[in-house]
Amino acid sequence: MSASFEFTPENKKRFEEILRRYPTKRAAMLPSLHLTQEQEGYISPEAEQYIADLLEVPVVDVREVVSFYTMFTRNPLGKHHIRVCESLSCWVRGSDEVKETLEKELGVESGGITEDGEYSWEVIPDCLGACELAPMLQLDGYFEGNLTREKVVELLKKQAASKTSGK
Ligand code: FES
Repeated sequence: MSASFEFTPENKKRFEEILRRYPTKRAAMLPSLHLTQEQEGYISPEAEQYIADLLEVPVVDVREVVSFYTMFTRNPLGKHHIRVCESLSCWVRGSDEVKETLEKELGVESGGITEDGEYSWEVIPDCLGACELAPMLQLDGYFEGNLTREKVVELLKKQAASKTSGK
């Protein structure tokens, strides 16, 4: 059977506090999912079931929310996570090149994690709200834009260098 999920004792307390702030259990879905992702780094099917049980809603409702919001991920992530926008403006301006470069440089496809666990990346079909930077990506929440093959390689090098210099 698959691994189960449960909040840590500390997060159980935080969950109780969250519940107190909302009129119904269902209304506490988003903060509960944020807490889940904060604990696990992603939201597994087991965690979806756990949240559904806690909030007394069908698991399919939880799954819908997780799939709808791009801030939630259903896959384990690397230490650094890259999200590549491939919505219209980014696609027109070269998101394919960004994807190809990441795949080549990191050696994993979208949705994967590098062997050392440092990086994961994924393609996001919805606009990330920075079309003026197209084509763009988000690295650990920071926007990087006007990307070319060279810029993506440079970005990864900079990231690796900041790690070795301890920053
Ligand atoms: Fe990529 Fe809007 S289309 S940020």
